[in-house]
Amino acid sequence: MEDVEHILSTARSVRRKLDYSRPVSKEDLLACINVAVQAPTGIIGENWRFLVVTDPDKKKQIADIYCEVLQQISVDRGVTLKPTHNALMDRLHEIPCMVFVFAIGEPTDDVGGQVGFFGSILPAAWSLMLAMRARGIGTTWTSLLTARSKEVASILEVPEGVTQTVMLPAAYTLGARLKPADRRPAEQVTYWNTWEAD
Ligand SMILES: Cc1cc2nc3c(=O)[nH]c(=O)nc-3n(C[C@H](O)[C@H](O)[C@H](O)COP(=O)(O)O)c2cc1C
Repeated sequence: MEDVEHILSTARSVRRKLDYSRPVSKEDLLACINVAVQAPTGIIGENWRFLVVTDPDKKKQIADIYCEVLQQISVDRGVTLKPTHNALMDRLHEIPCMVFVFAIGEPTDDVGGQVGFFGSILPAAWSLMLAMRARGIGTTWTSLLTARSKEVASILEVPEGVTQTVMLPAAYTLGARLKPADRRPAEQVTYWNTWEAD
């Protein structure tokens, strides 16, 4: 129980202290994906597909798009990017692998459809991130590439009718010390029987 809660509480974004020189083993990746596919899935069932990108040219093209989107977000929202975001951005093209989580199919416009659709894929992505965390592989939950999913699909030859979700840049960590984030405790975010005002 303690181990599980520790992993769940310390699966932080790891953008620094990553070993860029060591490939992530296929064996580790497949073991982690085998954990991911145990996630809950809706009626569509097992529509997840994991696309691992290790090809330097493809990684460079994707990293370029990532940087453009992140810089644009920073301009549009008038926010200065944190050093940690810059650290990943600067070296993303060198990351040993980028793991994309795709869902076969497309969400409908209604909330129920979207909850069902993304609820059938994102738990698997989160399980994947946790499984990698447990094996000493650092990742970051990134979704901004979905803003340019058509270009990503073209680079990776993803067919029509497939939805891109998150991309986890993955590398073994170099002694990154991961600790629980500063979050509001359960008592402050849990209501009993009736919605309560904050
Ligand atoms: C929906 C979503 C999208 C995110 N997209 C990105 C992203 O594109 N790039 C990135 O560096 N981090 C991304 N993050 C990670 C958050 O920035 C991260 O959770 C935040 O830095 C808090 O750090 P922690 O994960 O260590 O708690 C995303 C997180 C969520 C939940």
